Amino acid sequence: MAPPICPQQPPCYVRKVIKSAIVPVAGYGTRLLPATKSQPKEMLPVARKPIVQYVVEELVANHVEQILFITGRSKGSIENHFDHDPELMRLLNAGNKQDLLDELKFEELQAHFFYTRQRFQKGLGDAVLCGENFAGEEPFVVALGDSILGLHGDSGTVARMAGLFESRHASCVIAVEEVPREETVHYGIVQVAGAEGDCARVVNVIEKPRPEQAPSNLAIAGRYVFSPLIFDMIRRVEPDPRGEIQLTDAIRLLCEEGRRVLALKLAPAEKRYDIGNFPSYFETFVEFALADPLYGERFREALERLLAKESAAHPAR
Ligand code: UTP
Repeated sequence: MAPPICPQQPPCYVRKVIKSAIVPVAGYGTRLLPATKSQPKEMLPVARKPIVQYVVEELVANHVEQILFITGRSKGSIENHFDHDPELMRLLNAGNKQDLLDELKFEELQAHFFYTRQRFQKGLGDAVLCGENFAGEEPFVVALGDSILGLHGDSGTVARMAGLFESRHASCVIAVEEVPREETVHYGIVQVAGAEGDCARVVNVIEKPRPEQAPSNLAIAGRYVFSPLIFDMIRRVEPDPRGEIQLTDAIRLLCEEGRRVLALKLAPAEKRYDIGNFPSYFETFVEFALADPLYGERFREALERLLAKESAAHPAR
C-alpha cells in the first residue's frame, strides 16, 4: 500500500526548522498606483504597521533566522525600516516616551537581514532566482512581501510547512487556501491528487485559470518551502507573453519531473490577506483596524456612525 501523503497523527509535522527565507519585494505594484509611485507597496500600512513588518514577524515566529529581501529601485525604505535608528531612539528616550519606544521593539527581532536587487522586474520566478547564492544547498522559505497570513500575521503555517517538507522528503510545499470558484482567475491554482486532511499531492499548477478551466479552487497563498532544486527549474522556464518568469511554471516542472510537491491548507481560522489591489487593501486595513487592541473599539464606533450617515443619505443602496 502506498504510504499516506501525510499521516494525520503526530509526528505528521515533525518539528524541523528551516532557517532561511527569501522575501521578494521588487515588483512595481502597478495595481496600487498612485500610492506606489515612489514607495514600495510592501511598506503601505495595514492598521499600525507596514505590510512587510507583519511578514517578517511571522517568519521569525516560525523559526526563520535569516531573511533575504529581493529589492529594487525605490525600495530603500524597507531597509531603513528594519534598521536601528539611534537618533529617533535618543529623541524618544529624552522625552521619556516609553509607549512609543515599545513600538520600535521589532527592531530587536532575532533575525539577520540581507538585501539584493532584482535589476529587471522579470517576474516572481526571476526574483526567487536572485536568492540562489543566499540559499546555498539548504531548503528555504519564500514569503511574498505583499501577503499577510492570519489576522495580525499570527500564522504558524510556515513552521507546519517546514515540518511537512522534512517528514515527507518533499521538494516543495505550497500553502493553499480555498477561494470562490469565480475568483480562480486571480490566483495560481493547484491540481491535487488524493487529499488527506489538510495535505495533498500537487500534480500541476496553473496560473490564473478561468473558473471553467480551473482544476480546483485551491489557490497558492503566498508561502512556499523549496529545496534548492527549484533554481534549476526556474532557469528552464520560458518567459511568459509579458516577458516574466513565473514561479508557478517552475513548480509545474517539479511536478512533471515526478518530484514530491505538496499542498498544505491554511488552518480554518487563518486567512491570506493579499494586498495587491485596492479592494483587498481597503478590506484588509478595515479588518485589522477593527481588531486593533488599542483603537479598534473607537474605530468601530466611527465606522458605524459613517455607515449610518451613508444609509440615511442613500436609503436605496
Ligand atoms: P505581484 O505580481 O503581486 O507584484 O508579486 P507586482 O508585480 O508588484 O504587482 P502589479 O501587478 O504591478 O500590481 C507578488 C510579490 O512578488 C514581488 C512583488 O514585490 C510582490 O511582493 N515581485 C514581483 C518581485 O519581487 N519581482 C517581480 O519581478 C515581480
